[in-house]
Amino acid sequence: MGRLMHDKYGPSLLRARHDEVAVTDEATTELSSFKSRSINFKIAFWDPEVNGLRYMKTLIYNLAAGLSDENWKRLRRIGNRTVGDPFTITYNGELVCMDYLRSVLELDFIARDVELDGARVLEIGAGYGRTGHTLLSNHDLREYHIIDLPQSLKLSQAYLRTVLDDEQYAKVRFTSVADVDERYADTEFDLTVNISSFSEMKPETVDEYLKLIDQRSRYFYIRDAVGKYLDGSLNGNTEQPEVIKMALSAGKLRDVIDIHDSHDVESHGPAFVDAYRPGSGWTCVANAWAPPWSHYWQALYGKK
Ligand SMILES: C[S@@+](CC[C@H](N)C(=O)[O-])C[C@H]1O[C@@H](n2cnc3c(N)ncnc32)[C@H](O)[C@@H]1O
Repeated sequence: MGRLMHDKYGPSLLRARHDEVAVTDEATTELSSFKSRSINFKIAFWDPEVNGLRYMKTLIYNLAAGLSDENWKRLRRIGNRTVGDPFTITYNGELVCMDYLRSVLELDFIARDVELDGARVLEIGAGYGRTGHTLLSNHDLREYHIIDLPQSLKLSQAYLRTVLDDEQYAKVRFTSVADVDERYADTEFDLTVNISSFSEMKPETVDEYLKLIDQRSRYFYIRDAVGKYLDGSLNGNTEQPEVIKMALSAGKLRDVIDIHDSHDVESHGPAFVDAYRPGSGWTCVANAWAPPWSHYWQALYGKK
């Protein structure tokens, strides 16, 4: 290294090191897979193996750059988005994270067909509560109900208590799965929401929730995976075999697909729409690919 350092047109110290370490004699004559190996990471200047956060931030940045004016307004209306210290980028002076970007895209899809002001909304599987936070910050909802497992309920209770003001928080109701039938014997919901949640449940549990939605809701919005995948390179081959087995058997949509093949994903869209239709009396109002995740689909159903 440094051999050409004093030549007029020689490399910098940095490039000389790249050449010594990655763009080696051996690597420059092996063309069979060089574009996915370290030689190309010092030529094309991207490296998926160590740069997960760089790509996440790049993705957030690009999504932020493509947000419509209406979605920027929706995002700005959501206060306290940095509680919990998310990974953020700054775009036009606004701190932006992946979760609330997805939330405004989801709201955008729902609000085209559902009147949210005055609505009583149910969410099944709310995680920390970003969807309720987003809807309550953008619409004058009547009530926001969350059904969840006890651990997530603790988290969403603590989180929503922190990010919402008193008036908004007073509209939130938390119900543990053990109390669902008793609690919701006769409540009517304008909209039920389920995001990244049915795909991790037992198929028969999903059917029970679909029955509940059929009986109690007017609209149903779902955003979730169209299938499973078996590509260890996507998680560094770190997942235990038994966890992979559990993931493959959860949910109703269990075809193993190439999640980064648009034809494969699109061809599973109709099965997604069929699987999550709450009953025969429902029509699918809209369905589409659900960016940014390549293998996610979204559908809004309405009771006829
Ligand atoms: C991957 S998280 C998604 C959270 C949230 N919807 C989001 O998109 O940010 C899955 C959620 O589904 C909930 N969940 C899983 N199984 C459930 C069940 N049987 N009944 C209700 N909620 C469940 C989990 O507790 C968690 O809140």
